[in-house]
Amino acid sequence: MTQQTLFDAVGGEPFFRSLVHEFYERVWADAVLRPMYPQDDRAGAEDRLALFLMQYWGGPGTYSAQRGHPRLRMRHHPFPIDLDARERWIAAMHGALDALAPAPLHRAELEDYFDRAATAMINHNPLLRQR
Ligand code: HEM
Repeated sequence: MTQQTLFDAVGGEPFFRSLVHEFYERVWADAVLRPMYPQDDRAGAEDRLALFLMQYWGGPGTYSAQRGHPRLRMRHHPFPIDLDARERWIAAMHGALDALAPAPLHRAELEDYFDRAATAMINHNPLLRQR
């Protein structure tokens, strides 16, 4: 029995390019998230996230060929990601998923992953800063 990857099941590269584009439309409209991102390199940011997601879900390994091991926690260290930022990131991704409307089972799989990965990226607790 051959297993189809989620990458293929949702339509391959065009799906992930569109998802990430819709996602960044929302990130750029968010007052908390937008300042964290490279203001003059939105296209580059879109490219990095799209390539990463394509690789993660079983598509081509271009992300690691260009960027090396993902080490996502480490790469997010420069950005103060608290619970609020995490919720905003997830809201932007859910909006993008609404726009693309993948099949419910695929959406559930994608959402579950984003949910866990975004929680793992939290690296800042504003309550601890006030000492
Ligand atoms: C929890 C909230 C998150 C915030 C606020 C956040 C913010 C950022 C920022 C500001 C960048 C730099 C943009 C760039 O130049 O590429 C970035 C990069 C990136 N993020 Fe996130 N991120 C979050 C969660 C996630 C999650 C859940 C994933 C994976 C599913 C992810 C995957 C990536 C990737 C692949 C890059 C590019 C890394 C590289 O190769 O340099 N991020 N993120």
